[in-house]
Order: sequence, then structure tokens, then C-alpha cells
Amino acid sequence: MKINVYRRFALSAATQHAQQNNITQTIADDMAAVNTVIRQRLHSDVPLVNQISEYIISAGGKRIRPVLVLLLANAHGYRGTAHHELAAVVEFIHTATLLHDDVVDESSMRRGRETANALFGNAASVLVGDFLYSRSFQMMVSLESMRVMQILSDATNVIAEGEVLQLLNMHNPDVTHESYLTVIRSKTAKLFEAAAELGALVAGANNEQIAAAGEYGRSLGTAFQLIDDVLDYAGDAAEIGKNVGDDLREGKPTLPLIYLMEHGTPQQRELVRTCIEQGDEQHFDAVLAAVTSSGALDYTRREAEAAAHRAAESIAGLPDSVYKDSLLQLCSFAVDRNH
Ligand code: IPE
Ligand code: IPE
Ligand code: MG
Ligand code: MG
Repeated sequence: MKINVYRRFALSAATQHAQQNNITQTIADDMAAVNTVIRQRLHSDVPLVNQISEYIISAGGKRIRPVLVLLLANAHGYRGTAHHELAAVVEFIHTATLLHDDVVDESSMRRGRETANALFGNAASVLVGDFLYSRSFQMMVSLESMRVMQILSDATNVIAEGEVLQLLNMHNPDVTHESYLTVIRSKTAKLFEAAAELGALVAGANNEQIAAAGEYGRSLGTAFQLIDDVLDYAGDAAEIGKNVGDDLREGKPTLPLIYLMEHGTPQQRELVRTCIEQGDEQHFDAVLAAVTSSGALDYTRREAEAAAHRAAESIAGLPDSVYKDSLLQLCSFAVDRNH
């Protein structure tokens, strides 16, 4: 199938921000409504809960998952307001996973700020992550839809499995491409899938349309995480709002390293094996040079591009609209992004 709107081209940071604005322009009113819901539902009588949840939420983030809910709902002709609540639920779940993930990954920078764990400690971060998770479940119950609860409870369960599987893969230089894909489909693509399905579902789409939306979200989320793993080597910390080199420091076998283990020179393989086994900060420059010169980063980008193409193909059946255009633009953003 020929995809007309989907295009891939290298974009400057300024152009990318403009492009992201362009994607969300069509749903600006909806995004403002989602923001209001987020603000209202963040409240707790326990001051530290407010302080930490406010700290991470007010840092912003790209809000891609709520955007997915809203675009898919609009693309299917939705005219109500339940999608605002759903979009906020999805962002709360995402934020909870970030609070937990930064503890697990011992990360010190997120959304251009010190991480919550660095500032408030691991215990507070984990517990406020639990608060956001459980608040999201209170919100989804209020929607009184068994199907919504099924999608979101399945998604959170799969995300947790993905993070645990990743933990098992840590420090293992022999992790396969397949196992890596299972991890990223679970920890990242699953929530994208759920967000897209929920948008279609709330709009009254039929099962086939919901499945197509889910496939779109799954493929887009896969592309998104592949690029996240590229940016952990080749990104600019100020742009991505996170430190580069976190994955190598942790001994996390992501696709650029898996590629090197398969296709690198004997010296490159030895370097990568040691770095993954031990977790390494000192050899970051050498590994960056190796993943660049061997084509490992380009290979990972091409895999992301293929996943983004699959995403675009999955929504080919949607009627033409500005929302569909934005969904297609998201496919190129997921691949070309610098942040
Ligand atoms: C970060 O997600 C975690 C990953 C799945 C890579 P985002 O890159 O969407 O984070 P924010 O919300 O924009 O900060
Ligand atoms: C995404 O993986 C984790 C979640 C789905 C929460 P990463 O560990 O690569 O995410 P970042 O790079 O810390 O945002
Ligand atoms: Mg992390
Ligand atoms: Mg990452």
C-alpha cells in the first residue's frame, strides 16, 4: 500500500518543535481540557504526594500518549468528553512508570530537571508512583466501562512484565534481538497500543477499527522506543532532557549493542561484552564511536523507520481528516525526533 503523507527527513530541533505543535494544533482545545483534568485529579491531602506529582507533571513531557487517545477519538468522529479523562489516565500511568523507572535505572535527569528520586529519594518516588497508578485506576472506574478497564489493566500488567524482563536481561551481552523486541513492545509499545485503542473505543469504533488503532499504537510505540535507545547514545542531553549514556552505565543490552555483538569486529564485540557485563561509564566515547562507525545506530534507525511505516499502513483505512494527517505526521516524528 502506498503511503502518501508519511515522509522521512532530517529535521532541525526548531523544526521538530514546530512539527510537534503542528500535530497537536488540531487538538489544542482537547489538550487544554486534558490539562485541566490532570490538574484536578492530581490532588491529595498528603503534601508530599502533591509536591512530587506536581514536580514531575509540571515539567511537561511530550504528552504523546494523551495525544494518541485524542487523535484516534477525533479521527473516529467522537463528540463527547470522556476522551479527556482517558487521556489523563494514560498520562498518569506513563508518569507512574517514569517515577519507578528512574529509581530502577538510577537516573538523575528527566524532562530537563533532576529526577524525583535524585531530589526526594527512592522511597518517596516509588510510593508517589503507586499513588499515580492507583489514582489512574480510580479515574478509569469512574468511566464505568469494563472494556476500558480491561485494556488498561492488561496494559499496566504487561508494562510491569516488560520492566522485569528487562531487569533479567541486564548485564547479559547475549540477549537476542527477539528478546529485546519483547521488552520494548511490553514496556513501551503496550501503553501506546492501549492509548490508541481507547481513542477508537470511546468513539464507538467497531472491533476491526479498534484492532487497527491498536496496531498503529503498537508499531508507533516500537519505533518510539527504538529511537529512545538511539538517543541514549547519539542524543543531546539538553534536547532529550535526560542524560545520555544511562543505558551503557547500567549494562542495558539495547539494539545498537546487540547489533554490534553480531556484526562488530572482534575488538568491538569484546568492548561491548565487557561494558554490558560490568555496566560502564568510562568507555562511553569508544562505544559511541563503535555504534556509529559500524552502522549499528543507522540499523536501529532503519528498524524504527520500518515500524513507523507499519504504523502508517495500519491507519490507511481511516477516512481522510486533519486528525489522520496528524497521526501520520506522528510516524515521522517518532523516527526523526531529537527529543
Ligand atoms: C519516556 O517517554 C519513556 C519511554 C518510553 C522512552 P517519553 O519520551 O514519552 O517521555 P516524556 O513524557 O516526553 O517525558
Ligand atoms: C522506557 O525505557 C521505560 C518505561 C516504559 C517507563 P527507558 O528506561 O529507556 O526510558 P528512559 O530513557 O528512562 O525515559
Ligand atoms: Mg529509564
Ligand atoms: Mg531510554
